Amino acid sequence: MTISKKIEAFMTRSSWIRKMFEEGSRLKAEHGAENVFDFSLGNPNLAPPEKFNQILDAVVREKGWHGYMPQAGYPHVREKIADFISRDQDCGVTANDVVMTCGAAGALNITLKAVLDPGDEVLSPTPCFVEYHFYTDNHGGVFKTVPTHDDFSLDLDAMAEAINEKTKVLLINSPNNPTGQVYTKESLDDLGRLLKEKSEQFNRTIYLVSDEPYRKIVYDDIQIPCIFASYDDSIMATSYSKDISIPGERIGFTVINPHATYRTDLMNALALTNRIIGFVNAPALMQRVVAELQEVSVDVNFYARRKELICGVLRDAGFSFVEPQGAFYVFPQTPIADDVRFIAMLQEERILAVPGSGFGSPGHIRIAFCVPGKTISAAAEGFKRAVAKAQAK
Ligand SMILES: Cc1ncc(COP(=O)(O)O)c(C=O)c1O
Repeated sequence: MTISKKIEAFMTRSSWIRKMFEEGSRLKAEHGAENVFDFSLGNPNLAPPEKFNQILDAVVREKGWHGYMPQAGYPHVREKIADFISRDQDCGVTANDVVMTCGAAGALNITLKAVLDPGDEVLSPTPCFVEYHFYTDNHGGVFKTVPTHDDFSLDLDAMAEAINEKTKVLLINSPNNPTGQVYTKESLDDLGRLLKEKSEQFNRTIYLVSDEPYRKIVYDDIQIPCIFASYDDSIMATSYSKDISIPGERIGFTVINPHATYRTDLMNALALTNRIIGFVNAPALMQRVVAELQEVSVDVNFYARRKELICGVLRDAGFSFVEPQGAFYVFPQTPIADDVRFIAMLQEERILAVPGSGFGSPGHIRIAFCVPGKTISAAAEGFKRAVAKAQAK
């Protein structure tokens, strides 16, 4: 191979994604896409809100907005975002705390690049988003995981044990992909206290980085606490990918806690990393569009109905799971310990899902329910048969 040995190893490590994709394509070619029940992708199936189209039409007609801009993004866009966050989360964020990025992935990458030295550790509760490992490695860090409780809430004792003199970032994601769980204000306050204590113990700033692209997709009036109130040295990374259904447009932002110890240094570092990673800046057109969409999101009731439907189907099939509080994923236990094998049993029923092993939690599967209701209903019998087959083995 003439590619990097490290990338070769990463490709092998994530080969199950490719295999699943290939198996899905084979099933779709053989049975027709409408006869394959694909719960494997977190690709929102809702169209963006109508206001997105209106603003896009208007913005696209404005002339003279095609040049480079300040590395952190257009000042007026950052201003609107800072105003919204300050109101929505009751915190005094200013435009100078916001950097426009290429999606939440871009926000996480510029943040990690800004704070990691080679060998620094990034710690994340499992299960967690598959890409965190790769993002950490991109910037010379070492990714480590820490278990959560059975209901996927934060296990502070396990975290206290895992944090050491190399820990630089505690990376959380709420509402969570793949579990749909939301961390409570109390648990975040406890986490903030722990990070303060550990930062003092090891005489270094440990950052709390909160990945929040699903913040607006929550059920049953659940409130997502503001991490800034729980810990000063915190940074939020987010995007418009999921809440206005535009993941292909690559637009998001990073916000620094205005009380962060090294606020100005951090801001200058983020502006630089945003440039040198190679994005240079977030897409100009989309920055101007999202500026006008701060209060807007897709109809979350759509996902709430899908959540009820899929939970009913899974319950009837005999799965155990914690009901999602947000995002559009559910993470049931598999009836046999080998989740990859169970995924193969589901494929025999033309159902595609992702093994929990990929998220660091074997013995589970992730089901993305951002799909049409008829896909969920049509898969019901297949789920039942797969569970029966697994239990019979
Ligand atoms: C938890 C989590 N973080 C980050 C991302 C990346 O989001 P974006 O497409 O905005 O870069 C995703 C996308 O699925 C995600 O689920």
